[in-house]
Amino acid sequence: MKAKITVNKNYTIGKIDKRIYGSFIEHLGRAVYEGIYDPEHKMSDDEGFRKDVIELVKSIDVPIVRYPGGNFVSGYNWEDGIGDKSKRPKKLDFAWSSIETNEVGIDEFQSWAKKANTEIMMAVNLGTKGIEDAKNLLEYCNFSTDTYYSNLRKQNGFIKPFNIKTWCLGNEMDGEWQIGHKTSEEYGHLALEVAKVLKCMDNNIELVVCGSSDENMSTFGSWELDVLDKTYDYVDYISLHQYYDNEDDNYYEFVGKSVCMNNFIKGVSAMCDAIKAKKHSNKTVNLSFDEWNIWYRTKDKPFNKWSAKQHLLEEKYNFEDALLLGCMLMTLQNNCDRVKIACLAQLINVIAPIMTEKDGKVWKQTIFYPYMYASIFGRGETMNVICESEGYKTKYSDFIPYVEKSVIHNEEKREITVFLVNRSLEEDMDVTINFENFGDCQQVEHIYLYCDDLKKENTPDTESIYPQKNDISTDKKEEHSIKIKKHSWNMIRYKY
Ligand code: AHR
Repeated sequence: MKAKITVNKNYTIGKIDKRIYGSFIEHLGRAVYEGIYDPEHKMSDDEGFRKDVIELVKSIDVPIVRYPGGNFVSGYNWEDGIGDKSKRPKKLDFAWSSIETNEVGIDEFQSWAKKANTEIMMAVNLGTKGIEDAKNLLEYCNFSTDTYYSNLRKQNGFIKPFNIKTWCLGNEMDGEWQIGHKTSEEYGHLALEVAKVLKCMDNNIELVVCGSSDENMSTFGSWELDVLDKTYDYVDYISLHQYYDNEDDNYYEFVGKSVCMNNFIKGVSAMCDAIKAKKHSNKTVNLSFDEWNIWYRTKDKPFNKWSAKQHLLEEKYNFEDALLLGCMLMTLQNNCDRVKIACLAQLINVIAPIMTEKDGKVWKQTIFYPYMYASIFGRGETMNVICESEGYKTKYSDFIPYVEKSVIHNEEKREITVFLVNRSLEEDMDVTINFENFGDCQQVEHIYLYCDDLKKENTPDTESIYPQKNDISTDKKEEHSIKIKKHSWNMIRYKY
């Protein structure tokens, strides 16, 4: 099969906010305990953080990490996780029917974030708590005043404020499973009042209001419109959450699901703009896709209630998951004019690209590489390209192109990075790429992920899905031809 891509230097979608390569660490299962924090592990530092995990996180250059939940945050008392560790209470966590030891809280997590070279996206509890608790947390984290909570942070050993810029107003408050679940009327009102106080305290912070838990919620749409109508003037982003599945074990349906993600983004953008028009506002509310991934195998797995460090949501990813994940990253890049933050949910052990063994190694799941390469090389501007590719029909879309693409231009480095997935199960693809108005371009690298077996997984001992290098042509020219293998993910870099 053949495909053709035309890239013109003058036509861009927008500048990528690096935070679209964010991730998420929740107090859930072994994400924090035995994930980032394990004082007994031989690789741990003096604070109990696993250095091998930090190195792997740094290798992805994760710009922002959402914390501490997720469902967990809706029952969380952040004050349990600060100060003298020996005095911290153990509590029941009703979100995940677990025990929270509180050995790690914001004091420790901000230190981990510095070590991992990332920022924190902090969620406040709007389930069991509200305005008072959110304002105290903001004071504790960001203030230098001679006042109670900022002094408390200093007494706990942190003279300098943590300066957390991005704040989530609760988590999935539309979901009936959520502790303190609310109607859009109740949540919209509370979110507005919290937002007013937080923005009055510090107008430099950015706020994310909760959208729907996913687009299949019966209240999807009316929730967004209602909540935005109430909070529009005080918030900067609305959240989107979605996990995709392959329950039917249908390859073509599954790897096309990035098209659903694209439609979801377009729909929520339109809702933001509808409220903008209704309010005659000049302000644009953008999107924070702060939970996205593939998750279905471990949804209802039984576990021991009321214990800590349970192996919860430890989804094992296979090669076809890596293909869809690569397509979803392209979808985020191609929507960079509206999606300013996105968090791959999650980062360590829990539905994660990075896994740890107790007393053992840290290892990479199949989805690690598409995520890493997008984050490292997907910085700059997304180009508005024309892609001519044959496609196929699914039950949710009349046309899914065999070739998924995104093209990122990094002007500073004079570099163009092309991400491609060939969805075809049968045929390799000959792709012609035309670079207009760049002058002659030279290929510098072609990395791909391919495996005959779509169901192949990585394990702690065998990395079956790993980046391979293709031969490149070093000719300088405008039109380039490359071959990409059937069902493969590819990254091709050019200099001009
Ligand atoms: O990421 C796992 C869970 O999925 C989060 O806690 C919740 O927000 C979502 O439903």
